[in-house]
Amino acid sequence: MAITNDGTILGIESSCDETAAAVVRRGEQVLSNIVFSQIAIHQPYGGVVPELASREHLRAIVPVVRKALADAGQSYQSIDAVAVTRGPGLAGALLVGISYAKALAFALDKPLIAVNHLEGHIHAVLLEERQKGNRVLNFPVIALVVSGGHTHLYLAEQNGESWSYQNIGRTRDDAAGEAFDKVAKLLGLGYPGGPLIDKLSVFGDPTAERFSSPRLKHRDRNESVGDKNSDELPRFDFSYSGVKTAVLRYVETHDLAAAIDVRRKHLTQISKPTIEDYRAACDQETLDLVASFQHTIVDDLVTKTLIAARSYEAATLLVTGGVAANNELRRRFETDGHKEGLQIYFPSRSLATDNAAMIAAAAYPKFLKQEFAAMDFSAEAGLALR
Ligand code: KG4
Ligand code: ZN
Repeated sequence: MAITNDGTILGIESSCDETAAAVVRRGEQVLSNIVFSQIAIHQPYGGVVPELASREHLRAIVPVVRKALADAGQSYQSIDAVAVTRGPGLAGALLVGISYAKALAFALDKPLIAVNHLEGHIHAVLLEERQKGNRVLNFPVIALVVSGGHTHLYLAEQNGESWSYQNIGRTRDDAAGEAFDKVAKLLGLGYPGGPLIDKLSVFGDPTAERFSSPRLKHRDRNESVGDKNSDELPRFDFSYSGVKTAVLRYVETHDLAAAIDVRRKHLTQISKPTIEDYRAACDQETLDLVASFQHTIVDDLVTKTLIAARSYEAATLLVTGGVAANNELRRRFETDGHKEGLQIYFPSRSLATDNAAMIAAAAYPKFLKQEFAAMDFSAEAGLALR
């Protein structure tokens, strides 16, 4: 295999409901970034249907990769390596990207690099900071990866080109984005819930309803979950199924079911509802409920993360993953975090949610170290980040 070192990497991402491909040079210069979203396919079901996701990835992968190469002015031959998400994610969805990446790498005789999706989210931030000329991070660095499938806190370390991560917190049940999606579904608003609740919350009173913040027993916080050295590290776990259940209880005790049914039916009749359509379909009580729910989640994420940052004497905090697109979350981290003297970095909104530029960027240090994947690796739905 001939290894060229211009560092032009084709990234492929198919872990959930976006088929994505991107070409990134030296982990920094995004030559193209194509994301084909399956939202419309899954919307009628109020969540991602794994079999449909795999089928749609199969349909989309070839044209999406072709467009990423064309937009980047590259050919199959001119790229230096193929990087692909190995996990975590939906096994059948991951396998589509992995099989295609393997076939490409084999046919082109190019190196293949396997990337952890969560590391990709972290590198979305690093990529954009490098673009801004910010090449030096102050350590210790803590990263909050908060998305539809994950709510993880990591201590991130860099040794030369290599990055390693220690998990210092995770959700015990629902991920924060999952809670957003489930509550939106419960209120008849549709999928994905996060962006909708984000936009609708500005019309509601976040203090109207007081949901108690998720509390974990001290014992749980310090419990080891089997990660490297985790038994020696203080833990800061999260829990979001209680808040979701509290919203459900509110719906039941305030007899909102009939109104929710009307809203759901009304919104499904509009082909592309705007935020004004969503707002008009909600009464003030619902807008207050949505704003109070978001406020509870954001308050918990920010408070726990900042306690963790203090405990680890962190100098830098990276906040990434789909929920990092949330306006209230960004505002709260910026005000509360800066008061603590923390440097806080978010990805732009387009790189916060799933994309392949972050996969190509995370692959670059592995490319430099020639940390290539063997052709027999497979998808790992529950792949841990270390
Ligand atoms: O990172 P991502 O695209 O996919 C996963 O790896 O899960 O994250 C998707 C999640 C969904 O749960 C979606 O509702 C949530 O991120 N999300 C948001 C916002 N935009 C996306 N949650 C809150 N506010 C947003 N603006
Ligand atoms: Zn993701």
